[in-house]
Amino acid sequence: MTGEQRMDRQVADYDAPVRGDPITGERYYAKRWADAEWDKVWTRVWHIGGMAADLIEPGDFLTHHIGRESVVMLKQEDGSVRAFYNACLHRGYRLAWTEIGGAPQLVCGYHGWRYNPDGMLAHVQDPEDFAGGSPCGKHRLTEIACEVWGGFVWFNMDKDAGPLRAWLGEKVASHLEQWRMDRMTRVYAVVSDVPCNWKIIRDNFNESYHLPTLHPQISTVINDDHTDCVFHIHARTGHNMMRMKGLQPSARYDTRNKLDIPLAQALEYWGLDPADYRDTAMDARDAIIRRKRAVGAAKGYAHYAAMGDEEIVDYFHFTLWPNITFTMWPDGAQVLRSEPHPTDPERCLFDHWFIAHPIGDSDVVIGPNGPTPFEQVDREHIVFGEKTLGDVADQDLSVAIGQQQGLHSRGFRGGILANQEKRVQFFHEKLNDVCGIHD
Ligand code: FES
Ligand SMILES: [Fe+2]
Repeated sequence: MTGEQRMDRQVADYDAPVRGDPITGERYYAKRWADAEWDKVWTRVWHIGGMAADLIEPGDFLTHHIGRESVVMLKQEDGSVRAFYNACLHRGYRLAWTEIGGAPQLVCGYHGWRYNPDGMLAHVQDPEDFAGGSPCGKHRLTEIACEVWGGFVWFNMDKDAGPLRAWLGEKVASHLEQWRMDRMTRVYAVVSDVPCNWKIIRDNFNESYHLPTLHPQISTVINDDHTDCVFHIHARTGHNMMRMKGLQPSARYDTRNKLDIPLAQALEYWGLDPADYRDTAMDARDAIIRRKRAVGAAKGYAHYAAMGDEEIVDYFHFTLWPNITFTMWPDGAQVLRSEPHPTDPERCLFDHWFIAHPIGDSDVVIGPNGPTPFEQVDREHIVFGEKTLGDVADQDLSVAIGQQQGLHSRGFRGGILANQEKRVQFFHEKLNDVCGIHD
C-alpha cells in the first residue's frame, strides 16, 4: 500500500497518508518492542481504569493493572475521582488488592499505614519514632492524571498529559457522546489471558476485510461490503472509525436481497411484515429506521432521540489509539481492549465488555452473547478457552493465536494489505514513529 491509494468511501479530511512501512513479524514477539511500547506508549496514553458507577461513597476505589504497574482511583468528598500509583510510600507494598472496594481510609496490609482518599498519609504506627517527627500530613501518594468521561474512569501516567478530551479529539468525542455511554450499565465484562501479542488483536479490529471468511454468520444482517463502509483515520490523534450498515445483508453476495431469519425477526419486532421484504431485504434497513423514529420512544428506546438515523441502525466501530475499541450498537456498546501482558510479549489481556441502555422495563438486553440480564457486573478473569467470549470474539481470537504462530516464520515478509486495511498500516506507522523504531 502506498500513500496515494485511498480507502473506499474514505472521507478526504480523515484520510491520513501512509508510507508503506513493512509490518514485520518481530514487533509481535521481540522484547525490544515491548520495552519501547512501555516507555513510549503505555506510560503516555489515557487508559480506562473502570466504571464510574462503581464509585459511590468517598473512599470507594477502583484499581487497574497495566504492565507491572497498578493504579488506584479514589472517590473524593466532593464527588470527583483522583488516581494514584497503588504502592505504599513506606516500603512499597501494594495498597489496594481488589478491583472494586471502599473504606474511609486506604490501609496498608504490611505495617498499617493509612491514607485518606486524597492520598494524604493520615496514620502511621509509632509516629514519634521518625526523624523529624510524624510523617503524617507531610506525604501524599504519587498522583497521576484522572478524568471521568463516558461512564468510565480514565487515568494517564504521563506527567505532561493533556486533557482527556484533547486526546479523544472533538470529532470523536462529540460523536461518541450521541450514544450516552455515561447512562449505560456494564452488563458483561470478561478479561481473558490470550496467547498472542496485543497488536494482533488491534490489527483485527483495524480492518473488516476478515468478516466474510471469519464471521459469515453475520452477513445476512450486517453489510460488510467495503464499498458500503465509511472509514475515517484521524491523523493527529491516531484514532479511527468505521461504519457498517446494520439490518442490511452484505452487498457482496448475489443473494443479498433474500431475507434471512434474523432480519425477518427484526422487521417483525418493529411492526413490519417480513413478507413485504422477502425479495427486497436490502430495503429493510430504511424501513426499520422509519419505524424506530416513529415508535422507538414508545417501545422503550428513549435514547434514539439524541441519535442520527445511521446511529440508530448501524454499527460504528471506533478504535482509539492505541488499544481501545468501542463498537457502538444502536442500544449499547462493546468495549474491546487489548493490553500487554506484564512480562511476555506473546501474551496479552483482552477485555470484552458490553454496556447497554435499559429497554423499557425489560430485565434483559441483547448483547454479543444474546439476551443478557440487565444488571451491573464486575470484571471476570479467565484464561482464553475456559469459556466463550461470544461467537464473534471467539472467532477473532482463535485466528489471533494462529497468527502469532505464523508471524514467527522466516517466510513471512511483512504484509500485503488491501486498501480497506489502511487503518492497520496507519496504526503500525504511528507505532514506529512513537517508538522510534524504523528498521
Ligand atoms: S509498606 Fe505499607 S505500611 Fe509498610
Ligand atoms: Fe472480527
